[in-house]
This record gives sequence, structure tokens and C-alpha cells, in this order.
Amino acid sequence: MIKTVATTPFADQKPGTSGLRKKVPVFQQPRYVENFVQSVFDSLSGFEGQALVVGGDGRYFNREAIQIVIRLAAANGFGQVIVGQGGILSTPAASNLIRQRKAFGGIILSASHNPGGPDGDFGIKYNAGNGGPAPEKITDAVFARTKTITEYKTVLGPDVDLDRLGTLHVGSMRLEIVDPVTDYLALMETLFDFGAIRAMFAGGFRMTFDAMSAVTGPYATKILEEVLGAGAGTVINGTPLPDFGGHHPDPNLVHAKVIYDLAMSADAPDFCAASDGDGDRNLIIGRGMFVTPSDSLAVLAANAHLAPGYASGIVGIARSMPTSRAADRVAEKRGIGCYETPTGWKFFGNLLDAGKATICGEESAGTGSNHVREKDGLWAVLLWLNILAARRQSVVDIMRDHWATYGRNYYARHDYEEVPAEGANTLVTLLRDKLPGLPGRQFGTLTVAEADDFAYHDPIDGSDSAHQGLRVMFTDGSRIVYRLSGTGTAGATLRVYIETFEPGPERLDRDTGEALTALIDLSRSLADIEKHTGRREPSVIT
Ligand code: G1P
Ligand code: ZN
Repeated sequence: MIKTVATTPFADQKPGTSGLRKKVPVFQQPRYVENFVQSVFDSLSGFEGQALVVGGDGRYFNREAIQIVIRLAAANGFGQVIVGQGGILSTPAASNLIRQRKAFGGIILSASHNPGGPDGDFGIKYNAGNGGPAPEKITDAVFARTKTITEYKTVLGPDVDLDRLGTLHVGSMRLEIVDPVTDYLALMETLFDFGAIRAMFAGGFRMTFDAMSAVTGPYATKILEEVLGAGAGTVINGTPLPDFGGHHPDPNLVHAKVIYDLAMSADAPDFCAASDGDGDRNLIIGRGMFVTPSDSLAVLAANAHLAPGYASGIVGIARSMPTSRAADRVAEKRGIGCYETPTGWKFFGNLLDAGKATICGEESAGTGSNHVREKDGLWAVLLWLNILAARRQSVVDIMRDHWATYGRNYYARHDYEEVPAEGANTLVTLLRDKLPGLPGRQFGTLTVAEADDFAYHDPIDGSDSAHQGLRVMFTDGSRIVYRLSGTGTAGATLRVYIETFEPGPERLDRDTGEALTALIDLSRSLADIEKHTGRREPSVIT
């Protein structure tokens, strides 16, 4: 039975680039989820009788939110909801299901790499029929709707059993509960040489994958251990937990330190990797060597043709602006397209849909391709495995070979987390004013070539995005970029991206911190970071 329930707006339901993100208690307020999901449906048209994919990363409140979404979808006229068993779907797997099933769209419940649990973070994101995050046009409409909503539609009835595979009905809507891994595995099998990877494992190759007690556990266990024959125990922290075992499911050198230490130990496996809360990010560490996400993007692009899914070559590479320019050197040498977009995966969607780019990546450990419309952690791991199997070299040898061929972009990101928002905004405003006076100025051995506030003109839909980060570029190819995080939930986070280029053949084996010393000092003084944030040092370096 369909029921219309009167409601009043919540003031704070503005979806960001990754959907609506708030603390769990905020989402637990009565009508909060209902209001937002109804506002999403009210902002769409033409979904009557169509399918909606629903799933999440298993964090605290995942199941409760999914029950609400199912009821609202049924009452609003969707013909079918496809949900992952147990409410589980990694973000890339959800993107794939939307595409495979030609669904109208999907609702993904996740706060990505942010901590979970009763006081942790939660999130709701709408993805469109191409499998990618909703464009700004839709998220703006949703936000506008949340401010005027007066009622939502739901159906009455008991909760559905999300753990039992099969099809049932909620009102007149079909509800299909599917294995979350099956379709994703099928897609991966079309892209990679599973036979070669299986043979590599059979030959004694060892890896450890840290699922960080998050959504990739079931995917990695099935694909790596069962299908590819990596030994039992290859996947650690493989059971998704509502609070991720109390950890940040963020695969960086701080939160995935366990796997980093393992990779640097005497008994290190050949390859270590990890993924985040919802499975779209990746961390790659060879025996004795961390591969920066920017370098990983460049290596994957340069070697993708070794995997069957990319055997005919890639048409172009897209990277977010703060990502190092290592990938640009690959594109240049190969004579393929190279695109620089603002931070956020959504900017890749148009390029992928238009067939301009095949592989995309961000310095924040997101890499992916045109196989789905989200970044994809396990995809990156499997492409690395395919490359390792084809080249029969270690990660270290592949990296050294890559730098010798293309030169090396030493790179680091410094995050000043949870600083006062006012100081952070002042810092950006003052630095922006300073930019026009910088070209030609000398700082030690560094001379500024150009400085600007990055603006992006989308070559496909013609839209413009201004104020995407302050860039200071030097004559020797070095660069410092400043921007404020758009995903933090407390105060402001200042991100400073520091990069220098070493063409080789010498000086390719330097320590990154040492290679960047002068730039790091300059990054702090140029923006008066201590004065505006009260911090002498960043809280996280990646
Ligand atoms: C961060 C990353 C960005 C990524 C986003 C969503 O955004 O820097 O690359 O797309 O998370 O995963 P930020 O907090 O910097 O705005
Ligand atoms: Zn994520």
C-alpha cells in the first residue's frame, strides 16, 4: 500500500561531488533519508517501470538506509530494484550493474574512505544510467528540492530479507537480490588475462591484499583466492564490518601502514595492495617500493595494451589537475590524447562517454577506465597483476624501467586537516591575489613560469568550472598546487600538491622528500600556511 507522508525540509542536504555525506546520527533523524531520496526521485523523470540498482559498502546504517530506499522506489513507481546480497555493492560494481542491466540509475550508500560506525560517516549518492555520479545539473536540482519538499511516498510492510538471493515483490515492484560479485567478476574476466595471472600465482608469486574490513573483502576473496588461485590468506581483513574494525578504510600510507610495513619487511610478498571503504580506490606497493598513485596511472597507461581488454591500445589518458604529470609523458610519447580535469571523478565521465579517454586517474588513489564510470580499486590491482604476469618483472624493475623511459615526477601531497575554515579561506584568497605577480619571480634556484587559478572548460558539454585550485608552475617543470578539500566533514582541509620533474638518466633513484625539500619549504612560505592555519607541518603526507 502506498502512503504519502507529510514532511518538512532539512536545511543541510546539499550533495557534494560524492553525494550527501554526513555523520550517521544526522542520517538517523526521522525523515532525513526519506527526504533526500524523495528529492532525488523528484528531480528525475521517466523512471516509471525502470530498474534502480541499490547497494552500499556495508557500513553502519547501510541496511536501514537500503530498506528505506526500497520502499520509496516502490512507492514512486520504479519497476524493479536490484540490490546486492546483504546490501553489499562496491561502488564500481554498482556502476557496472547499472550499465549491464540498463538500469535507469542507482543509489549507492557509502562514505568512501571515511570511518564508519555509530559515530562515523555515512553517505547517499545517485548515479545516472551511464553508471557514473550524477552531473551537477541533477545534484543542484536535488538540493533545490530538499529545500521545498513537503511530502514523500513510501509503501507499508515489513523489512525485506536482504540476505536471501532471489526475486520477491514490494508492492507491485520487483525486488531482485543478486550476488554482488558475479557480474563484476564477469566483467573483469573480459578485460584481463586470467590464465596468465593464474599461472603466475601457480608459479609461486605471492601477494597480500588488505580489504580493510570493507566492501572489497568478498570481491577480492572470490577473484584473487578462488578464481586466480592466490593462496588462502592472500586477502586480509576480508570481512566487511559496519565500523571497519574501528579503522579508517583509507588505503594510504597512514591508514594502511600494516601493508606498507609488510611490503618493506624482509619477508615481503611480491606485491601488496589495498582498497578503500567502497572499493573504488587502490594502494599499490611492490616489494620494497611504494608506487605513487600518479606513477601508477602512468605505468598502467603505458602497459595497458598487455591486457586483452586494452590490446588495441588506449585512445587517451585523463588525470585530475593535481595529479602529477607523469601520465602526460606517456600520452606525449604515444601520441594519444591527454586531458587535465578538476578534482573529482565526475569530470572524467564525459571524456569516457565520448570515447576521448580510456584510462583516468587521480593522485588520491583513484584509477579506472572506460569499463565502468567510477574509479575501480580491484580493477587497478588486476591490471597491475596482468602487467606483472606479462612482463615477468618485479614492480621495482617496472618502475625503474618506466622512469628511464619517461623521466620521473617526484611527487607528494601534504594535507593540513581540520584547520579553521576562516583561516583556510583567507589563505586561498590572499594567495589568489598574489598569483599575477609571481611569474618571473625567483625563489632560490626556482623561477616561477606561470601561476593561475585553474579553470576547466569541458570539451564535450561546453560547461565551465572555475576556481579548481591555485597552480604555481616553475621553469624547471616543478609545480605547487593548493586547493581546499571538498569532501571533509570537519573544518577545512588544505591540500598542497608538490611535484618536480627529473628527466634522467641520472638522479632517478632519489628519496622523494629530499628531491622536494626546496619546493616543500617554498609551499609553506609562499602561502603563509603557518600564519593562516596555525600548523607548521601537514597532518598527513601521501
Ligand atoms: C578527495 C580527493 C579527490 C577524490 C574525492 C572523492 O576530494 O582529493 O581526488 O575525487 O576525494 O573520492 P577532496 O577532499 O580533495 O575534495
Ligand atoms: Zn571510495
